[in-house]
Amino acid sequence: MTALPSDQSVLAESRAVELDRVDPLEGFRDLFHIPRAGDILSAMGKPYLGNPSDPCVYLCGNSLGLMPRATREAVIQELDDWARLGVEGHFHAKHPWYPAHEFVREPAARLVGALPHEVVAMNSLTVNLHLMMATFYRPTSERHAIVIEDSAFPSDSYAVQSQAALHGFDPADAIIRLRPRDGEHALRTDDILEALDRHGRRVALVLLGGVNYLTGQVMDFARITAHARVLGIPIGWDLAHAVGNVPLALHDWGADFACWCSYKYLNSGAGAVAGCFVHERHAANTAPLHHPGAIKRLAGWWGNDPATRFRMTSDFVPVASADAWSLSNPPVLALAPVRVSLELFDRATMPALRRKSERLTAYLQDLIDAIPAAARALRVLTPREPAARGCQLSLAVLDRPRELHAALTASGVVCDFREPNVIRVAPVPLYNTFHDCWRFASILSTHLAASSTAVSSRPNVQ
Ligand SMILES: Cc1ncc(COP(=O)(O)O)c(C=O)c1O
Repeated sequence: MTALPSDQSVLAESRAVELDRVDPLEGFRDLFHIPRAGDILSAMGKPYLGNPSDPCVYLCGNSLGLMPRATREAVIQELDDWARLGVEGHFHAKHPWYPAHEFVREPAARLVGALPHEVVAMNSLTVNLHLMMATFYRPTSERHAIVIEDSAFPSDSYAVQSQAALHGFDPADAIIRLRPRDGEHALRTDDILEALDRHGRRVALVLLGGVNYLTGQVMDFARITAHARVLGIPIGWDLAHAVGNVPLALHDWGADFACWCSYKYLNSGAGAVAGCFVHERHAANTAPLHHPGAIKRLAGWWGNDPATRFRMTSDFVPVASADAWSLSNPPVLALAPVRVSLELFDRATMPALRRKSERLTAYLQDLIDAIPAAARALRVLTPREPAARGCQLSLAVLDRPRELHAALTASGVVCDFREPNVIRVAPVPLYNTFHDCWRFASILSTHLAASSTAVSSRPNVQ
């Protein structure tokens, strides 16, 4: 069912095989479980016409990353230590539980470009956004607006609206939504800066997705952060689609805060423990809660300085780090997969991953461009410039998008669908291959060719 050229052209299958052969990160794929197409379709109660043991074409790391092989053992180790040691596991487990969040601190800091004491692993993403807004959204009657992208992820939209409402403001008035120009899909940085200038005096917070979940656009972190800071507006980044995908330098950019999840590109399992960054200019504020210079935050015992935590007094003594925002003792079973995953990032390194990612995504784009029926059937919403995108390509499907997604699924492709008509595909440099991209394009090409034949032979029923 190959509809792409099978000759020696750059788009030939042999080209993909050769690109994989010279890929310096090639060995990392073997460190992951790659689901089998037959298993996925059988779980969905659907037939798979290929060989059931074929690996699926997994292009869905933007939604849920694959499981590293080492994760099972790491979780079982925690269970065994619990069985063997009970409460003594806090200090005598293989990875002691009391400082469980410490094991992921430095690797997480490396990934987001932060100082170690600026990051903390805790909670989940939307919870952390709220905790950050409890501190950084301090509205007044004159200045209470929050700027977000119009296509912000719904959870972020709900979070900012509820924060505005919590403070007594009408969300319809308080939320400023940034929209691309007519006919464009990506936001222009100049337009974002101009909007901040125009609304400046009203704006109490900017909260943007670092990589937009729908279009895959990477924001110009440095310019937008610098501009917000010149205007005196606190700025936070939702890095759900950015962390582990594109290089980040939160400390140098000077962002006030950032939050991310660990189940997408960080491969730590559904609902995994999330991460949070607070710039040290805030994290260093250890004034007691009642002090006039104290930073406003919600407090719990895990945010208390560990040196005094077990004195069990009623006075909160914030630790001089992002940990001051953590509330509860760390979830050790859930942190084990994060630890395993971040070790893989340390081994692969973000610069090497980014180099491969740029090549993989460009290759996928070239393949899609070369499909004869694609020009009529699809629009790629993601910017073409490598600096303005990570590994995700978002394809707006012009005719019967759900049917195309179902056909891809039935052929062993795992990618996702976002209303109303967007299919997102993300070749992830840690475990995807050039051959995965080639297989995807080959399957896509076959289905587009079949559906354009079906359309042209359909009676005109206008
Ligand atoms: C950009 C973005 N923000 C927020 C969320 C919500 O994440 P959580 O359910 O972990 O709070 C997601 C989930 O996919 C997301 O993509």
